[in-house]
Amino acid sequence: MSLLRFGEGSLQPSLLIFGVIIVRNFFYNFDWILISENDCYFLVDRKSNKRIEINQALFSILERTSTDPITKNIVSEIGEDTFEVLRENKIFSYQKPKFHSDIVKIQQTTPFLKRVFVEITNSCNEFCSHCYNVSSNFKHKFISKSDMFEIINQAHELGAYEFQITGGEPMLYKGFGDILDYLWVKGFIITINTNLTLLTEEILEKIVSYNININFSLDYSNPKKHDEFRGLQGAFIKTINNFKQLKTNHVNTRVNVMLDNKSDSEIVDLIDYIKYDLESRYVTDYMIPIGRGEGSESQFFNSRSQKIYAFTNAIKSDSCASCQLDKRTLEEYEYSNITFPDCGIGKSFLFINTNGSYALCPSLAYTDELDINMNIYDSSMKSAWETLVQKFRSSLKCKHEHSCDYSAICNGGCRSRAYHSLGSINDIDPLVCGVYQSKYYIEGIDKDVSTK
Ligand SMILES: C[S@@+](CC[C@H](N)C(=O)[O-])C[C@H]1O[C@@H](n2cnc3c(N)ncnc32)[C@H](O)[C@@H]1O
Ligand code: SF4
Ligand code: SF4
Repeated sequence: MSLLRFGEGSLQPSLLIFGVIIVRNFFYNFDWILISENDCYFLVDRKSNKRIEINQALFSILERTSTDPITKNIVSEIGEDTFEVLRENKIFSYQKPKFHSDIVKIQQTTPFLKRVFVEITNSCNEFCSHCYNVSSNFKHKFISKSDMFEIINQAHELGAYEFQITGGEPMLYKGFGDILDYLWVKGFIITINTNLTLLTEEILEKIVSYNININFSLDYSNPKKHDEFRGLQGAFIKTINNFKQLKTNHVNTRVNVMLDNKSDSEIVDLIDYIKYDLESRYVTDYMIPIGRGEGSESQFFNSRSQKIYAFTNAIKSDSCASCQLDKRTLEEYEYSNITFPDCGIGKSFLFINTNGSYALCPSLAYTDELDINMNIYDSSMKSAWETLVQKFRSSLKCKHEHSCDYSAICNGGCRSRAYHSLGSINDIDPLVCGVYQSKYYIEGIDKDVSTK
C-alpha cells in the first residue's frame, strides 16, 4: 500500500497519529546538491557525502523541485517508485527548509573546477615552527567580506561545489559566521582547516547545521610538546576540548599530522591517540621546506619515514584513505603496490592566497616563478582558472611519468614537495618516490651523494 496520498496542488502524505490525520507537504532537502559533470548527473548528500548517479531527465525535474512546490504532477513525472527511493534517501523531507540554497551545480570549465580553496587570513594565534605561510599574531591580512562573497558567487557560477577555508586561523576572521551562512546558501560542501583552539558557540552551531567538515592539526599526543611546536601554551587542551564538542555533535573530522622530528614511539603514540581515543580520520605529512619550515627538510628522507608516510596515507583496496599505523605489519607491508591519492592540483582545485592571488596550491602560492600574476581584484576566477590550466598543462607531472613503472600508482606524488625539495615542478617527489625505491629515486640519491 502506498503511503502517499495526493492533495490539491502539492503532494500531501498523511500520517495517522492517535487516530488524527496529519497532512503535510514535502520539500526539497537542501542537504542534497545536484551536480552536472561531463554529461553525468549526480545527487550528493552534504551530510554523508553519499553520491547517487541519476539521469538527465531526473536532474531537470529535481532542478525544478528545488525551487517549486512538489506537486502531484511532479511525482508522476518522477514516477512513484523513483519518488519512493528519493524519499527514503531523504531527498525530500517534511521539514520546510529555513532558507533556500542554490544547490544546482553545472560544470562550466574543462577541466572541471570543483573545489575553491581560500586562505582567508594570515593572522594566527599560534606560532608553529613549520608554518609555510609564516602566519602569526603579527600578521593582519584578511580577504574582505565583500570579496569573499564575490569569490563564492564566482565559484558557484562555475559549478564548483566544494569550498575549503584555511589560514592563518580562520576562526579569527570577523564575521566568519556570515561567510559560512553564505557558503551554505550557495550550495557548497564546506571544509575548514583550523588549529581548533578558538571554537565559539556560534560557529559550532553553524558547523553542525551546515555539516561542515573540520580538518584540524594535532602534532603530538604529549600536550607540552604539542604546545611547544605550536608556539602556544595550552593549545593542546583547547584543541582537544573543542574536538570533544565536535565529537558530541557528530561532526566529520580529520586530523592533520606533521611527522617530522619525531621518534617512532612518539609517532605510534600520536596515531594511537587519534585512532583509539579521538576516533577520528587522519592524514600525515612531512614539512614542505618553506616559510618557517625552510631548511628543515631531509631531502631524501629515510626508508623508515617513507614507510610510515606510505602506511598512513596510501589508499588501500578498501579505499580507506588513511590507513592505520600498525607496528606489527609496517615492515611487512607490500610497498611496491601502494597507491597514493591524486590531490587534483591544476585539475580540479584552485587556491587563493590572502593577497587575493590565484595559485596552484597552498604551499605553491608564494612562489614567484609559478605565479600567474592574476588576482581577485583584477581577474575573474574563470580567466584565472583557464590561464592556470593552460600554463601548467604539461608541467604538473613527474618528468619520468612515461617511463616509470610506478607512475599510475604514485599519482605524480606531491608537486610542491618536488619543487621545494629539488627545485623543479616536474622533478620526482622524493618522499613518494622513495616508497617504491624507483630507479629514478636511487639515481637521485647517488647524484646527491656524489655531489657531497
Ligand atoms: C597553514 S595551516 C592553516 C590552518 C590552521 N591554522 C592549522 O594549523 O591547521 C594548514 C595546515 O598546514 C600545515 N602546514 C603548515 N606548514 C606546513 C609546511 N611547511 N609543510 C606542510 N604542511 C604545513 C599545518 O600543520 C596545518 O595542518
Ligand atoms: S600552521 Fe596553522 S596554526 Fe600554525 S602558525 Fe600556521 S596557520 Fe597558525
Ligand atoms: S619517478 Fe617517482 S615520482 Fe616519478 S612517477 Fe615514478 S614513482 Fe612517481
